Amino acid sequence: MHWIIDTDAGVDDAIAIAMPFVPDWPDHRILAITTVTGNVHVSKVNINVGAVLDVLKVDVPIHAGCDRPMIESHIHAEEFHGADGLGDAGLAKTERRPEQEHAALAIVRLARAHEGDLGLIALGPLTNIALACNLDPDLPECLARLVVMGCAWQARGNQTPAAEFNIAADPESARVVFDRFSNVVVLPWEVSLDQMMPFETFERICAGTSARAVFFAGMTRVVHVWKARFGFTGVPLPDPLAMAVALDERIIARELRARVRVDIGASIGRALSSLDYRHPRPNARVVVAVHADAAWRMIERAWTL
Ligand code: RIB
Ligand code: CA
Repeated sequence: MHWIIDTDAGVDDAIAIAMPFVPDWPDHRILAITTVTGNVHVSKVNINVGAVLDVLKVDVPIHAGCDRPMIESHIHAEEFHGADGLGDAGLAKTERRPEQEHAALAIVRLARAHEGDLGLIALGPLTNIALACNLDPDLPECLARLVVMGCAWQARGNQTPAAEFNIAADPESARVVFDRFSNVVVLPWEVSLDQMMPFETFERICAGTSARAVFFAGMTRVVHVWKARFGFTGVPLPDPLAMAVALDERIIARELRARVRVDIGASIGRALSSLDYRHPRPNARVVVAVHADAAWRMIERAWTL
């Protein structure tokens, strides 16, 4: 399977991006990384993705995408990911630059070129994907898989009481994507809360001596801020869990079929991802539990190489 990773890197995005770049996955090939404004502005995301690719020592084209949501103004998550988006760890700056082609155009082009064999994993707001859907209305039929880290299936939001950040950052785009696709694999926020990486595993990765491990330890110092502020009993890693599901669906322990619809109103429910279990045309497989130990092994493998 070929893949595009769409990302607003972000610390947890960066952790996820390394996961396919190990010898374990010969059947998965990352064709491109598309970037979008989310945790931080897309200009910073481009730099962060370049820095991660540098430490992974891999050559993958970066395509810069939308610098703002479809309608409302940008909300960011710099308080969680640092002003630079990678924990303000002072990591080495990259020389890599994005391609000329816009992310949405790259998604459309590659979906056509690899029809039926291209998966797209969305780790940030869905702005690029909604735009791509309007550039090529057949995109949902061309893509083999769409895996989305997003939604709050129990409405335990992290951006508002009802809404998860990736959806809340651009609800209109999320509405378009869930209305156009018929089989989205969704990894909701609550799974990463209910199944956090144990600090013991996290500290073991940070203690690694490889270049990857040193980079991981640097950018994840921000985890200690999360722990102090929220009293987390482990490390919530939503994007890496979505990547684990994309790489190996055996990670899924329990899933629900539902019609997911995103509220684009202006009330307290804005960006709520409502799940209709009785709808005759479900559009999503909502992952509600994973085999987390297997996911932690994938992450540790990728960052201690
Ligand atoms: O709600 C968690 C999601 O929002 C993750 O993708 C994180 O990187 C932020 O983008
Ligand atoms: Ca993200």
